[in-house]
Amino acid sequence: MESPRVRPFEEADLPGTAAALVEVHATDGYPVEGVADPEAWLRSDDVLASWVAEADDQVIGHVAVMSPNGEDAVSLWTRQSGESHERVAVLGRLFVTKSARKQALGEKLMRTATTYAQARGLRLVLDVMTKDTAAIRLYERLGWRRIGETTHHYGDGQQTSALCYVSPSS
Ligand SMILES: CC(C)(COP(=O)(O)OP(=O)(O)OC[C@H]1O[C@@H](n2cnc3c(N)ncnc32)[C@H](O)[C@@H]1OP(=O)(O)O)[C@@H](O)C(=O)NCCC(=O)NCCS
Repeated sequence: MESPRVRPFEEADLPGTAAALVEVHATDGYPVEGVADPEAWLRSDDVLASWVAEADDQVIGHVAVMSPNGEDAVSLWTRQSGESHERVAVLGRLFVTKSARKQALGEKLMRTATTYAQARGLRLVLDVMTKDTAAIRLYERLGWRRIGETTHHYGDGQQTSALCYVSPSS
């Protein structure tokens, strides 16, 4: 097997990335909203930049940096820091397929997104569902700081608890 690499997302990656997302939803229940239209979820208008992890021409991971869109982490951070919304971006759409985990791909995707944001003077924040414990360990290992808790509402009146994080200052 070719060693995995992280590179910018290209339009041609869309079907493979959507298939990887559907797989992650089946194994981990991520995203909680479900994957009725995985391509639309990946190509949301809020995406500023995104990257994939690939090996043997297969997409096995993904991450995006996104414009703020009402996330609790954004309002918590702007309130706590006095930072303007224009200087904040959201890290999201992070996943690695189950069979490709524990090879530091999650970490590489995170570092790639963080480097992009730092180069543009953007501070990254994120919301993570409390149930996604592997992701929480990853964020804390990379020095992200918990800035609060929230409740994530989705679907037909469903809700789940979530935690908000800010990236380390550059
Ligand atoms: C969170 C997620 C992206 C992490 O992906 P990953 O590629 O496994 O991440 P990493 O490999 O960087 O780190 C995961 C673990 O592997 C370990 N690891 C990294 N490289 C390793 C190696 N070469 N050998 C052994 N272990 C290794 C890390 O120390 C870490 O250990 P931990 O589980 O005890 O904390 C993945 O679990 C996932 O997709 N989860 C479901 C979706 C999700 O929750 N997304 C986040 C939403 S906010």
